[in-house]
Amino acid sequence: MKPVKRPPERRQVTVLFCDLVNSTTMAEQLDPEELMELVESYYAICDDIVSSHSGYMAQYLGDGILAYFGYPDASEEAAPNAVRAGLRLRDAIRRLPSPTAEPLRCRIGIATGSVVATSIRDIETPHKAGLMMGKTPNLAARLQSEAGPDQILVSESTHRITRELFHHQSLGAKELKGFHQAMPVYAVLEETDVSCRSQARWKTSDLPLIGRQQEMELLLKAWQSASRGQGQLVLLQGEAGIGKSHLVGELKRSLLEQGHRQMSWYCGPNTRESTLHPIAEQIKKTAGFEKGEADGSRQQKLARMMERYGATEASSLEVLADLIGLRGGHQSALDGLTPEKKRQIRLDTLLAMVQAWSDGQPSLIVVEDLHWIDPTTLELLDRLISTAHQHPLMVLATARPEFQAPWPPGDNCAHLHLKRLDRTASELICSCLNPDEALSPQLTRRIVERCDGIPLFVEETTKSMLEQLRANGPSGGDGGDGSDLIPETLHDSLAARLDRLGPARSLASIAAVIGRSFTYELLEAVSSQPEAWLREQMDALLVSGLLQFSEQTAGEAYEFKHALIRDTAYETMLKRDRQTLHEQIARTLSGQFHELVDAEPQLLAHHYTRAGSFEQAIPHWISAGRKSSDMASHEEAVQHFQTALDLLRHEACRREGLPASLELNLLLGLAMSLAGSRSYSAPEVGQILEESRTLAERLEDSQSSFAILRGICNFCIVSCDLDNAERSAGECLQRWDQGRDPIHGIEAHFSIGYVHYVKGSMALARQHLTQSIDLYRLHEGWDLGFPSTHDPMTGSLTALAMVEQACGPPDQVAATLEQARQHAERLGRNYETVYTLSHELLIHVLQGRYLEAIALSDTILGISDAYGYLTWRAIAKVYKGVALAHAGQAEPGGEALSIALEGMREQQRLGVMTLEGFRLAEIATLHSLASSVSEAFATIQAAAEAVRRSGEAYFMPLVHVRQADVIARAQGHDEPAVMEALDQALAIARALGAASFETMINAKKQLYARERIGGSAL
Ligand SMILES: Nc1ncnc2c1ncn2[C@@H]1O[C@H](COP(=O)(O)OP(=O)(O)O)[C@@H](O)[C@H]1O
Ligand SMILES: [Mg+2]
Repeated sequence: MKPVKRPPERRQVTVLFCDLVNSTTMAEQLDPEELMELVESYYAICDDIVSSHSGYMAQYLGDGILAYFGYPDASEEAAPNAVRAGLRLRDAIRRLPSPTAEPLRCRIGIATGSVVATSIRDIETPHKAGLMMGKTPNLAARLQSEAGPDQILVSESTHRITRELFHHQSLGAKELKGFHQAMPVYAVLEETDVSCRSQARWKTSDLPLIGRQQEMELLLKAWQSASRGQGQLVLLQGEAGIGKSHLVGELKRSLLEQGHRQMSWYCGPNTRESTLHPIAEQIKKTAGFEKGEADGSRQQKLARMMERYGATEASSLEVLADLIGLRGGHQSALDGLTPEKKRQIRLDTLLAMVQAWSDGQPSLIVVEDLHWIDPTTLELLDRLISTAHQHPLMVLATARPEFQAPWPPGDNCAHLHLKRLDRTASELICSCLNPDEALSPQLTRRIVERCDGIPLFVEETTKSMLEQLRANGPSGGDGGDGSDLIPETLHDSLAARLDRLGPARSLASIAAVIGRSFTYELLEAVSSQPEAWLREQMDALLVSGLLQFSEQTAGEAYEFKHALIRDTAYETMLKRDRQTLHEQIARTLSGQFHELVDAEPQLLAHHYTRAGSFEQAIPHWISAGRKSSDMASHEEAVQHFQTALDLLRHEACRREGLPASLELNLLLGLAMSLAGSRSYSAPEVGQILEESRTLAERLEDSQSSFAILRGICNFCIVSCDLDNAERSAGECLQRWDQGRDPIHGIEAHFSIGYVHYVKGSMALARQHLTQSIDLYRLHEGWDLGFPSTHDPMTGSLTALAMVEQACGPPDQVAATLEQARQHAERLGRNYETVYTLSHELLIHVLQGRYLEAIALSDTILGISDAYGYLTWRAIAKVYKGVALAHAGQAEPGGEALSIALEGMREQQRLGVMTLEGFRLAEIATLHSLASSVSEAFATIQAAAEAVRRSGEAYFMPLVHVRQADVIARAQGHDEPAVMEALDQALAIARALGAASFETMINAKKQLYARERIGGSAL
């Protein structure tokens, strides 16, 4: 690849220090010339080993060396290669001719971590090559000086990345000079029998198989037909970490019970140049070689094994002995043969042996990671596959997408592409790894979002977050750009994919600063590069698979395929470079992309914030908050307003003169959005409203103080403090009288009307609600900008429907609700829709239309879940449980009750007290239907107390009716208390002027009386 000049970057490297033991004594004892010779051969060995492990020899320091791995290009194998190089160095140094009686020995220290590095490819300034800043090189140096003779010490991060590949001994935490915290230190002992990380993963994974049922079924089907004699190949392709090996592992496991043979060939990144390496390893295993066994004994084992599979020719034995590096056998049979002939004998022998092995019994050969396969193994595999249909053999091969399979899909060959896991499956992986729920739901959500359904990413990120949490406690990360989510174990492989890009790498960085997705137009404007160059690099990015076309954004748009790749590209840039780019993007956006900025002000706000230009950012955060709140996306609005407020306060600390009215505006926006997303009665809403009231009084801002008053009124309504609600609604009405501002009028009549409805003052309620509706209609089409979270028209219409439900006329209720629905539809805001539907749901419950109630509650739950309307979700759950029980669709004391109680708990957590008494009465009915008599009585009692305490007279007759039902079910219809309760209900309904309630209660009385007579006649 052409050398590419890159600016200094932040990157992860593995640093290795190696030093000779006793070099000062040697210097004293040896003639300088001899010493020079010794050091030169030592250097040569180091050079050779470091470079053969893709390392970079950075410095020679007397008798020490400093080498980098994963530099100048990141590599997935950087840390394992450094450790491997360490082991080889140790052995090679011992074999160097020693000037003393003792063999030469060394001390090695290895550490992995992030550094800021200049690029050695920067050929114009070679003196700057390899400059590396950060604590990692120091740590490696300290570990090296801490190591004993022939000891290799590694840091915790190196250990974490390589723990499956090497046996380590933990030496506990050590105090190291220059580090104020004790550092965990590990000594490397030897390699395990796992040769690469991708092979290590499934061996050590303790996760069950999540999802992938269809794929598993397909594999089992293929296995069944293979075992019946129709041999075949299944090629499992998918990107790194998608779960190929995991699936293969599960298949192997599920076949364990069945009589069959299986073997695995592993291709690895380090062995793609070693001919037939995967097969050689398998032969050693099948022949049963032991560690340190003499070649002679191995020869015998090999011969025995080959005999089992019918390979008895001397030439066969010799080619295989040669393949696995056995010395000392007879070489006569191969004398005079050309290398090509030997190769042919080798392949023929192996093929015949594998066929003999798989004959007669169902057999499975797994070939892992074909993208790393060496050409000869590929040839053998190809020949094997072409004859597979004659044997009961299934070849299951895995490969990353870049592998071009020479076997087209057909009768004996199936291609299976593994897709990303869905959200639920990703969440399940998280929760399997996090059984104690140490990670908060928000963090889990972030992990799932950032990891795009790649199980490896989910697993590693979750583990890394758990480790961070264990080490540092709940610190919350860096606040959202995702960089805290890139685990060390993934960093190298993610960065390697970027480094392979060449010149397109710099474009990927600019794109990463713009965001996960971006339009070509914006990228072009920001990068200010000629179009031809840009097009070429964009193609390279698309071909590399790092970018893909974006469907969501209009125009020519792209997105990073993985959020973590975007994060890595972002993270590797220097902070100052990122900041400059953010500033440049912000300026480009505000200068040339007005439409985009109008549509998504948060974009510009975000770039200004990241550029450190807070003052410019604030107004755009406010617009973003307003926009979200207009669309009733309260959750987002909360975030936007909160960010603006934080920045404002940060700026205000730095300098005087920022307008306090801005803060007031923000506080109000925040309070309303919080009320919308959580509930009006959430304590933080009350607190922010109080803060705003003080500020508004200080500023004598009457417009804001109306909004605050209205907010306080809602706060009181939802917390069921009806006296104070009435008082603040009254104050709102005074403002209307004083200023005749239509907003004040509409809002004031609505709120006082609402309070009257709940208090059962039906006539007053009807009068105020109608006034609010009329006034609203008069100003329909005006841009009034109401201060509450919900529109007063939907509020008034639904409250009016409630009044009509109690007082009549009965046929008007549906018509009024229909008006509310149409109005909500015109507004086009989900919040209004849910508000209206929730009142409709309540009316269905009051009318006993339970099937409609079930359907409606599901609709409400769907919208509320999607938009985070917690209050409506909680309430819908209660009514859903109730309706399910009455409709006979769920056990009243089982599923129905648990849904309803869950809703009650959510509602209580939110502090939503309004209508609590009525909902309790409904829960009492569930207990009663489930024949839980004492719970039913206790709950109905609590319901009666709740409505009495709150003064929600509207619901009192209803609670008494439910009470009558509970008593009748428990003690029989002729129990006098039943009629007493109904009479009480009737008296209250009459006092309220609730004619429809009266009719309903009278009907109930007649029903019970009839049943009583019927009952006694029996
Ligand atoms: N379906 C799955 N359910 C649970 N864990 C999975 C699943 N797929 C993959 N994993 C986990 O993700 C990690 C990466 O999977 P792996 O099979 O090694 O990927 P690949 O072979 O495609 O590179 C493994 O540690 C594995 O345990
Ligand atoms: Mg794998």
